Amino acid sequence: MAIRGVILAGGKGTRMGELTKVTNKHLLPVGPWPMVYHPLKKLTGAGIQEVLLVSGTEHMGDFVELLGSGTAHGCRLTYRVQDEAGGIAQALGLAEHFCMGSRSVVLLGDNIFRDPLVPLLEKATNRPDWAWIGLKQVPDPGRYGVAELSGEQVIGIEEKPEHPKSDLAVVGVYIYPPDVFSLIKTLKPSRRGELEITDVNNYYLKQGRMGYSTLDGYWTDAGTLDSLDLANELVRKDPPRF
Ligand code: DAU
Repeated sequence: MAIRGVILAGGKGTRMGELTKVTNKHLLPVGPWPMVYHPLKKLTGAGIQEVLLVSGTEHMGDFVELLGSGTAHGCRLTYRVQDEAGGIAQALGLAEHFCMGSRSVVLLGDNIFRDPLVPLLEKATNRPDWAWIGLKQVPDPGRYGVAELSGEQVIGIEEKPEHPKSDLAVVGVYIYPPDVFSLIKTLKPSRRGELEITDVNNYYLKQGRMGYSTLDGYWTDAGTLDSLDLANELVRKDPPRF
């Protein structure tokens, strides 16, 4: 089955204070590049050449100016505007026509990690109708989607739980089969008013169509001032593999 890449780089960026007053979070530097280069390099490094970037109206022009057609990065870029930050699953829904009939590899634009994508893609290869997620042990799971395991099996995912059932965060790397788009159309907004990617993942879990890989190398989001600092420190000490 064909595979297409999706980078989600919208959202409000409200956690970054003055740093995102006039620019987009994903354009801030992480190591030697703007943040958005990281997910893009992960995709192209895994041989994915058709990539969709989703962002809001305010900064789409900056992304186009930075990345252009994608040729300089060895890929072909398509852009889609998310009018309002209605959640990660809503942003992914905009990729429906782009991904038609293909599997999608979805990367959150503010996730920085060391491992290349290839091992994860290889593990997922034999199950084209499954969803696949990445997990990483973290000290502060309550900030993320958190997986509950029974033995080796993921049995539930909770979004930013007050009392996390494990220290395994669901990272912003997801592989979905083509039916993810019909599923997204059935979602209802959560209490924070967003279409949640965790609801998407729990659907596949309940259907017995969900696999996972654990990331070996470091992983962090870079969506707060502290985590942006951490991402820069990690990338400087041990450059990510693409
Ligand atoms: O970083 C991993 C975590 O990302 C997961 O563990 C959570 O399950 C998942 O919900 C998400 O949590 P956050 O609340 O931290 O996500 P945030 O709102 O920061 O958005 C993550 C990325 O998704 C960000 O780079 C921008 C993009 N995004 C987000 C929203 C809400 C969009 O493109 N559109 C949106 O409407």
